[in-house]
Amino acid sequence: MKAVVIQSYGTPDVLSVEEVEKPTPGKGQILVRVEAVSVNYADIVRRRNDPYPVPTPLPAILGGKVAGHVEALGEGVANFAIGAPVFALLGGGGKGGYAQYAVADVGQVMPLPAGFDLDIACTLVVAGVTAYQTLKEAGRIESGESVFIPGALGGVGSYALQLAKHFGAGLVIGGAGSAARCEEVLRRGADHAVDYTADDWPDQVKRVTGGKGADVVLDMAGGKLFQQSLAALAPFGRLVVYGSASREPSTLIPKILMPQNQTVTGYYVANWFAGRPQRSIEAFKALVDLIRTGKLDVAMAGRLPLSGAAEAHRTMETRQAVGKLVLKPWLET
Ligand SMILES: NC(=O)c1ccc[n+]([C@@H]2O[C@H](COP(=O)([O-])OP(=O)(O)OC[C@H]3O[C@@H](n4cnc5c(N)ncnc54)[C@H](OP(=O)(O)O)[C@@H]3O)[C@@H](O)[C@H]2O)c1
Repeated sequence: MKAVVIQSYGTPDVLSVEEVEKPTPGKGQILVRVEAVSVNYADIVRRRNDPYPVPTPLPAILGGKVAGHVEALGEGVANFAIGAPVFALLGGGGKGGYAQYAVADVGQVMPLPAGFDLDIACTLVVAGVTAYQTLKEAGRIESGESVFIPGALGGVGSYALQLAKHFGAGLVIGGAGSAARCEEVLRRGADHAVDYTADDWPDQVKRVTGGKGADVVLDMAGGKLFQQSLAALAPFGRLVVYGSASREPSTLIPKILMPQNQTVTGYYVANWFAGRPQRSIEAFKALVDLIRTGKLDVAMAGRLPLSGAAEAHRTMETRQAVGKLVLKPWLET
C-alpha cells in the first residue's frame, strides 16, 4: 500500500510517499481502508520532534484520526460489518494514518451513519470534540455568556465558532492573526473579531463585553497570548488552555485568580477519551448529529492526495489554512 513515511525529523520535505506493507489486524483490532485522514497540529509537532506527550519513533507514518470503511476484522472482533463506515483513533508511536490502510483497536473505532461525509468525519475528534469539550466541559459555557476563541479560522477554532452559538453563547468573539483573517472570522459568523497581533486586543474584548471581559476564554498558543488571555477574562470567567502553539512559556501566579473568582483549566482530548470515554463519545455523537442535520457546517481548507502531505503541513505552519486539511489516500496525484 502507499503511505507517507518520515525517515527523519525535520521540515515538511521529510514527508515522502513510499510503498509499505499493508498492516494486518491483530486480536481485538480492525483494519480500516482509509478514505480520509485529518492533518493535525500534533502531526507537525511529531514531524519536527518538538516536545510532545508521547514519543514518535522513526520511521513513522503520521496521522492519528482516520475515516474509512472496515476492511477486515482481527480475532475476537464481531460487532462491525465489513464495508461499514467508521471513524478510528489510531494508537502507536507514529500513529499510521497517512496511509491507504490502518489498524485500530476495536475500542477506538466508532461507527458512522451510512452516507456520512468521510472527509468531514476524520476531523470529528481532534478538531470537533476538542472544540465541543473545551467550551462545554472545561469551559462550562452557559447560555447568554460571552466567549473568546483564538485561532478562529483554524481546525479547532472554526468548529468552536459555530459550537459556541449552538451552546447559546450571547457573544462570540473570534481571534485571528491579521485584519484580513478577522474579516473572514466575521464572515464565518462571529459577532466580533479581534486581531491578536495588536497588543491592546484584551481591551478590545473588554470593550465589546461592556468592560467585563469574556466569560470563557480559550488559549491555544500560550506565552504572551496566555498572559493577555488572563487580562481578557471576566469575573467568574474560565480560561481553558488547550495548546501551546507559540512554544513560549506561560506564567501563572494563582493568587491573581482569587479576587475575581476566576478559573484556569486545561484540556487534552486524548486523555478525555482515555479517562472519561463516555462523555467524549457523547460529544462525538452530538457532533455527528449536528452535521448530519445541517446544523454545523465544517470548514474544509482542502482535500489532498498523500503526495500533498508536505503542502498541507506548510499551509498549516504558515497559518494560511481556513478550516481543516485532509489527505485522501486513494486520490491519485
Ligand atoms: N489539547 C488538545 O486536546 C488539542 C486538540 C487539538 C489541537 N490542540 C492544539 O491546538 C492548537 C490549534 O490546533 P488546530 O488543529 O486548530 O490548528 P490549526 O488548524 O493550524 O489552527 C491554528 C490557528 O491558530 C492560530 N495561531 C495563533 N497563534 C499561533 C501560533 N503561535 N502558531 C500557529 N498558529 C497560531 C493560527 O491562526 P491565525 O494566523 O489567524 O492566528 C492558526 O490558523 C495547536 O497548538 C494544537 O496542538 C490541542
